[in-house]
Amino acid sequence: MSKRKQTAAKSKTRQSQAHKGFKHQPARSLTFVKIQKVRSKDIILVVDFGSQYTQLIARRIRESKVFSEIVPHTISVAEIEEFKPKGIILSGGPLSVYDHGAPMLKKELYNLGIPILGVCYGMQLIAAQMGGKVQASKEREFGRAELFLDSNKDFFVNIPANITCWMSHSDQISKLPSGFVRIAHTLNSPIAAFANRGRKIYGVQFHPEVVHTQRGSQILSNFIFQICGCLPRWTMDKFIDSTIKQIKERVKGKRVILGLSGGVDSSVVAMLLHKAIGHRLHCLFVDNGLLRKNEVTSVSKTFKGHFNINLHVVSAENNFLNRLKGVVDPEQKRKIIGDEFANVFVEKSKKIKDAAFLAQGTLYPDVIESQSPKGGPSDVIKTHHNVGGLPKDLKLELIEPFRELFKDEVRTIGKYLGLPETMLKRQPFPGPGLAIRIMGEVTKEALEILREADERVLEEIKKAGLYYDVWQSFAVLLPVKTVGVMGDQRTYENVIAIRCVNSLDGMTADWVKLPYELLGQIASRIINEVKGVNRVVYDISSKPPSTIEWE
Ligand code: XMP
Repeated sequence: MSKRKQTAAKSKTRQSQAHKGFKHQPARSLTFVKIQKVRSKDIILVVDFGSQYTQLIARRIRESKVFSEIVPHTISVAEIEEFKPKGIILSGGPLSVYDHGAPMLKKELYNLGIPILGVCYGMQLIAAQMGGKVQASKEREFGRAELFLDSNKDFFVNIPANITCWMSHSDQISKLPSGFVRIAHTLNSPIAAFANRGRKIYGVQFHPEVVHTQRGSQILSNFIFQICGCLPRWTMDKFIDSTIKQIKERVKGKRVILGLSGGVDSSVVAMLLHKAIGHRLHCLFVDNGLLRKNEVTSVSKTFKGHFNINLHVVSAENNFLNRLKGVVDPEQKRKIIGDEFANVFVEKSKKIKDAAFLAQGTLYPDVIESQSPKGGPSDVIKTHHNVGGLPKDLKLELIEPFRELFKDEVRTIGKYLGLPETMLKRQPFPGPGLAIRIMGEVTKEALEILREADERVLEEIKKAGLYYDVWQSFAVLLPVKTVGVMGDQRTYENVIAIRCVNSLDGMTADWVKLPYELLGQIASRIINEVKGVNRVVYDISSKPPSTIEWE
């Protein structure tokens, strides 16, 4: 494997491992009964060969109102047939089809008569498995390239003869398999798209799923509508209606418990379940003492006050702070918080009579990551947690209405159900809360300082109109004291670091070049208004090699 590919594969594995822990700690042994999947008639399967864009393919198809699901490349032919897919898309991947251990497709799949589209690695795989030839290109092609169509029928119908496309490959097809014709080329790739119209098998060397490919969504739509014969029937309101119906039928007279964090996913689950079963939904909001200023009040106001949702605020500050006494190790903090959360949650749930279900806001990417065949041995970077492991004796069935959805689809549902923008577009806040933004021991005093400083950061970022434009903006309390001078007096006080990053998914991030005036304003407000702070610094590290949170 080339160095580039090794690095790409390694970084993917790391990302996948890091992400795996995110909200997807296996519950210790709940009686898991999956909710029946919502199946619409038409489904497109995306076979995952490890591309960073695989999920994007599935998303683009759903945007065309056709349901799509990602499956691992190890899937059996029988399992594929069970889905009765109208079409199959083979994703890209980091390897070369001739690499040792390169993932293959079961050859019988080519003979099922189901239309197939291969993207990048997927296309090369089709070529290699059907008798064509793939070889390393003289010139690797990364980024934008001019695509020239050689045919504008079916697959390329309504696409201009010349478009910009997005390439990311170092191999190319040098000989077509028999029965295939070239349908597009670029200056570097003589065969940038091919077709075997009789067998309905197509391939593209470029990535139609990324926004940099002009008319990329239209090209995918051509495949699913013109070639697979799908109808655009998968819509969000239908999804909401059918999910509500299923939840009603399943829960009947019983009660459902939901750990509400105030984040987007659990908030939208709360709204949906409330619509389905009203007061038989019990939301538990655990005040662990590690929340931001006014968090408890604002969540209570929204859910209890405004939506009349059955919300139990569990005050457990002392439980958490007692156990965190003297603890400075980040992983230990996370473990204690996860464990204590489980204790408090279970204790409270036992008091809710007839509770038979536990609802969670698990999303599709969490499910996919946990099933991904790509994983390998790698470092656990951070033990992320939300509703972590829950104990055996909590006999609850699991309801995960968003197992098949992406984050933006969940936001759309929230919007349909009337959740305010302020909740829908909130910046992410980690499960362990302010504890992982206090370097060193978590004490009441440290929490107070950080909470006040954080509030100033958020207020100023909002005032500057940047709150919704950045991924996260927050304060961190450092474990050092520095000398300062205030009104002729020497001070020896704490340092606050400001962190403001942009990111698409939390996996990688870059620091935001905030205007100096804004940074100055935040610093001067914190130093003047927050007792115990005499210095503010700005964090200019990206992820990787740093992480977004400091612990
Ligand atoms: P890191 O620090 O790993 O963070 O670069 C990536 C994203 O994940 C959030 N984060 C968490 N979210 N539970 C969560 O729900 C956690 O334990 C946790 N740790 C980090 C972080 O805020 C950022 O958005």
